[in-house]
Amino acid sequence: MKYKITTVVGLLALTTSLFASNGAENLFDSKCAMCHSKTMPQDKSKLIAPPFMGVMRHIKMQYPKKKDAVAFIVDYAQNPSRAKALCKEQKIAKFGLMPSQKGNITLQELQTVASWAFDHYSAANFRGHNTMMLKTKGMNCKHGNCKGMQ
Ligand code: HEC
Repeated sequence: MKYKITTVVGLLALTTSLFASNGAENLFDSKCAMCHSKTMPQDKSKLIAPPFMGVMRHIKMQYPKKKDAVAFIVDYAQNPSRAKALCKEQKIAKFGLMPSQKGNITLQELQTVASWAFDHYSAANFRGHNTMMLKTKGMNCKHGNCKGMQ
């Protein structure tokens, strides 16, 4: 009996840790990825929202601290507005304002997704397509100049 309980507790701990590592990305896939692709696709004509790689790049430039970046994402996903949007002009003109995700995702799930996104899109992940593209085109993507992410 004692053995059984230990096994159950052990299994539970295992599933919880598996959930913690994959759950956040799965959440993004099911709640955000229908609009935001995770990487820069080759064919940008079918995009209906900015790829999240670009979104995170801008968020990190504006909010380098995880706490601030997560707070911004959590708030924006619930209450998007032109005034809050980083790089609003090009993105909103192209895709329209993001619809509020209130009711589609809980606050806790949003925090999980935002925290995952901050860790997932690290400097190493930005290297490659996006940064290369900016460099080769001689573009400097600063706040208010977001041509590189579109
Ligand atoms: C129905 C499509 C759709 C879904 C679903 C969606 N988004 Fe968006 N999102 C957009 C569009 C369009 C934009 C660009 C316009 C804007 O910034 O409002 C955007 C922009 C953003 C931005 C950038 C705001 C800025 O301009 O600085 C963040 C952050 C964001 N989304 C987070 C999320 C998260 C997190 C989820 C999942 C919980 C999500 N979005 C789900 C359409 C969507």
